[in-house]
Amino acid sequence: MEVLTLKDIWFRYPASDEYVLKGVNLRLNKYELSVIRGPNGSGKSTLLLVAAGLLTPEKGEVLLYGKPLNTQLPQARIKLGITFQDPEDQFFNATVYDEIAFALRQLRIPEGIIRNKVTEVVETLNIMHLLNRPPYKLSGGEKVRVALASVLVYDPEILLLDEPTAYLTTNAKSELMKLLENLRDCGKTIVVVTNDSEVIKYRIDESYLLDNGVLYNTKT
Ligand SMILES: Nc1ncnc2c1ncn2[C@@H]1O[C@H](COP(=O)(O)OP(=O)(O)O)[C@@H](O)[C@H]1O
Ligand SMILES: [Mg+2]
Repeated sequence: MEVLTLKDIWFRYPASDEYVLKGVNLRLNKYELSVIRGPNGSGKSTLLLVAAGLLTPEKGEVLLYGKPLNTQLPQARIKLGITFQDPEDQFFNATVYDEIAFALRQLRIPEGIIRNKVTEVVETLNIMHLLNRPPYKLSGGEKVRVALASVLVYDPEILLLDEPTAYLTTNAKSELMKLLENLRDCGKTIVVVTNDSEVIKYRIDESYLLDNGVLYNTKT
């Protein structure tokens, strides 16, 4: 089932005449884990920001369940979980606990329920010991996991993850990929953007290469 679709997306940053995305078409389905690889500067992070509705393309459209995403915002925001390449870009709370609880507090969920959900997600990601720490003081691998926790906690249907394996040890990486496989098996729509070639060792459904703003399907 088609969940998020990018149709002929052309994007360039203001004050630049060079297009970063050049006619990108991408269809993301339920129960699928897609990986987009590509060298630095090929447009991977930009592509995720457009897919999440955080950047507006000059031409083309992003569809959520067949309807333009921009007409469904901000309500649809809760269906989308995006983590940024630099996790610090999304941290602004004093503690890891507050960071992870933030989205649920926005939804005015009772604090007792929030505590249970935060506990569950930090156990899954092995970051229980970080709850009282300030997010900006964590190591790279810890930041990546806290960023993921702050998204997984509200159980979005779609996960858009920018370089989620960055800074992770081989063990942590393999645990993360298995977690993503499980989430996919539970019906999530997941995109991982990375230049880490190891991720294709896992059970990936679709794999793409982004090269200088052009997206190629590389799944044979
Ligand atoms: N905020 C920005 N303003 C202007 N140019 C940008 C901005 N962010 C990225 N770019 C440029 O867009 C291109 C693609 O960047 P990016 O999407 O970050 O690629 P990737 O994630 O594959 O490394 C690069 O040339 C980069 O310099
Ligand atoms: Mg990037």
